[in-house]
Amino acid sequence: MNWEERLYLTAHPVAYPFLRGVARRGPIVRVPGIGVVVNDAVLAREILMDGETFRKDGPGSPGELWTPVLGPSVLLNMEGDAHRALRRRLTDLFVPSYTEDLCARVLAEPLAGLADRLRRGATVDLVDAARVMAGTVIGEVIGLEGGTQAAYRDLFEQGERIVSMVSLRTRRLSPSQVRRARAVLDPLGDIAAKSYLAGGESTVMGRMRALGLSEDEARGAAGAFFLTGTETVATLLPRLIALLADHGQLDRVARDGALLDRAVEEAMRVTTPTPVMLRSVHRPAEVGGVAIRPGERVLIATHNCCRAHGPFDLDRPHPPELRRLWFGAGPHFCIGYPLAMAQIRLVARTLLAAAPLTVTRRAAARNVLIPTYRHLAVRSGRGREGGAA
Ligand code: HEM
Repeated sequence: MNWEERLYLTAHPVAYPFLRGVARRGPIVRVPGIGVVVNDAVLAREILMDGETFRKDGPGSPGELWTPVLGPSVLLNMEGDAHRALRRRLTDLFVPSYTEDLCARVLAEPLAGLADRLRRGATVDLVDAARVMAGTVIGEVIGLEGGTQAAYRDLFEQGERIVSMVSLRTRRLSPSQVRRARAVLDPLGDIAAKSYLAGGESTVMGRMRALGLSEDEARGAAGAFFLTGTETVATLLPRLIALLADHGQLDRVARDGALLDRAVEEAMRVTTPTPVMLRSVHRPAEVGGVAIRPGERVLIATHNCCRAHGPFDLDRPHPPELRRLWFGAGPHFCIGYPLAMAQIRLVARTLLAAAPLTVTRRAAARNVLIPTYRHLAVRSGRGREGGAA
């Protein structure tokens, strides 16, 4: 069994084999208690592009799950004109030039520290390093000032605790879960609101104000960015390095920087940090020969769609239907894509500059929604992996 499978099985010992089993039953299948499950990238894209029929609001949708903690207007629970209008206003927020500058600025110090530790021959836990850095970036996005490494680590863990409340079967959060999530998100919203009110072009919240967002919209966006943009990025980084090492490609990508984007995209395809996407059906439709009724729930098994293309292979091009499916498609395509890529590229470049790297120790994480390592220790130089817990 390869490590990626081990990560999925440790995170979801029951749901993962079940989900992979559903993939064998066909491109689109109805599963009692879950909904209509889509395992094929072409069909997934067809559904994602039709935002009128397959929506993120309504029964069984992600909106129903997140509205009680994030409020009613946070992109991921909106549709139609209101969604389009908010997205239009946010388009300029994460343009690549801005996200690259932001990441380079806030990660300069942690990356210099990371490079220095590797240069001195220290063993570095990439899981912890990636969490602190993802916490740092998202802290900057929501307007947190003067955070320490410990504060960013804590920020990350708080987000993780909220996300881990959700499983494949979750349709609603219980009142106590909503209370616990709000206890984390409300103070972050206050920080975001303060930064919004201070205004200015140098902060993300200040820019939201300049883009015409209301204070409540900015507060909601901060919560949504925190929930969607921290763990996804932090988990991808150690998995990317492990995949490159396990497939003997780390030195090759380190030598040829032009391969980095392909390596990141291929690692995203295999890991799918967001393994499923949910939609609620609002009008009758037929997809892949299956009739779907209003009120049903559609679960796009992004992981199955992407794994159908085979194991990790840097040299196999992605067919058009797969193109960045791990970031979604259509009206809800990940708005944080440029921010995620900027951060991943920067951290990966720093790590690859210390190549050759040896993974010395690793273990899979339990009780998480997004499969990942509990720790992944690496050091610069050639050597052998020690005990694998
Ligand atoms: C590796 C990193 C990431 C992955 C794999 C990822 C994946 C995704 C996917 C698959 C969707 C679409 C979900 C759907 O259609 O149901 C999405 C939407 C979204 N993402 Fe990301 N994401 C990542 C990083 C980020 C970051 C860094 C941010 C922001 C700071 C972010 C913010 C959002 C938001 C706000 C949405 C909702 C957009 C909408 O509904 O219009 N994501 N992401």
